[in-house]
Amino acid sequence: MAPLSAENIFPIIFLLLTTFSVSKAELHAHYYDQICPQFEKIISETVLKASKHDPKVPARILRMFFHDCFIRGCDASILMDSTAINQAEKDGPPNISVRSFYVIDEAKAKLELACPRTVSCADIISISARDVVAMSGGPYWNVLKGRKDGRVSKASDTTNLPAPTFNVSQLIQSFAKRGLTVKDLVTLSGGHTLGFSHCSSFEARLRNFSSLHDTDPSMNAEFVLDLRKKCPKPNHNHNAGQFLDSTASVFDNDYYKQLLAGKGVFSSDQSLVGDHRTKSFVEAFAKDQGLFFKEFTASMLKLGNLRGSTNGEVRLNCRMTN
Ligand code: HEM
Repeated sequence: MAPLSAENIFPIIFLLLTTFSVSKAELHAHYYDQICPQFEKIISETVLKASKHDPKVPARILRMFFHDCFIRGCDASILMDSTAINQAEKDGPPNISVRSFYVIDEAKAKLELACPRTVSCADIISISARDVVAMSGGPYWNVLKGRKDGRVSKASDTTNLPAPTFNVSQLIQSFAKRGLTVKDLVTLSGGHTLGFSHCSSFEARLRNFSSLHDTDPSMNAEFVLDLRKKCPKPNHNHNAGQFLDSTASVFDNDYYKQLLAGKGVFSSDQSLVGDHRTKSFVEAFAKDQGLFFKEFTASMLKLGNLRGSTNGEVRLNCRMTN
């Protein structure tokens, strides 16, 4: 090995400094102020238009953000398409039902015209997720920006997403791995105030549940009958399912009220009522929508801060690396 000299130590110091500054780079509220001042407006208009055209878009985008941030941080790894040699995150089992990627593509195409090579796909998802919450009646917050897009996306990573069959301990563990607390878990689960689930995600609760119980005993009895009708056996309708709360296009605290009535769609939802670590948060949010909105804002900021790899880029096309 060559001895250290002024000549060869400077590149090493430079490399260390840049690596350090990239990994420590903080997200910033004014990141695009000088370089693409119109970027939030472009995204918001695109998301609003798509949501008016298809009311399923808001829930899908909120879920997309959660799934993106939980795998490798918020780095748009969920947007990459599979290739001949790589099955991407998007094609992992839990993400097959995540749709509406075209909305992010549309925003990106407009942004590439307005400010080429500037706005990351990861920031587009973050802004879009905030917008769909706000336009559905939920809170509005200032998104921090400056995320980079990752270069890795693997379907096998999606086994690390929490499953609808998880109990509270499994859910707490899954969130804790990302630095998220029990309160964040209960708060972010409130994302299920929007949207829909296919029967496959909850039908195990409806028949032959266990050796002791035909149906999940934590469920409201009328709710079981209702869901059985919606998800008959055999079921030839692959699109059949259930809305996640009784006001599924409105962002409100109805989800928590439904949980207290035994009407959580997934075991993971309903389990939040059956455990002393989570129940008091459910009760507080069911009583006070303002509190839920305040906490949801704080937890979404934390979720949005989950960082991806340090050598990211601004993708030109959200579906592939540059
Ligand atoms: C706590 C662990 C979570 C589990 C186990 C879970 C699981 C699921 C499952 C199984 C579905 C239905 C998929 C289908 O059958 O189509 C779903 C839908 C959804 N999830 Fe979650 N989820 C969790 C947390 C979250 C979080 C934190 C958010 C957002 C903050 C979120 C937002 C959504 C939304 C909006 C939908 C509806 C999507 C649509 O209508 O297309 N989920 N979730």
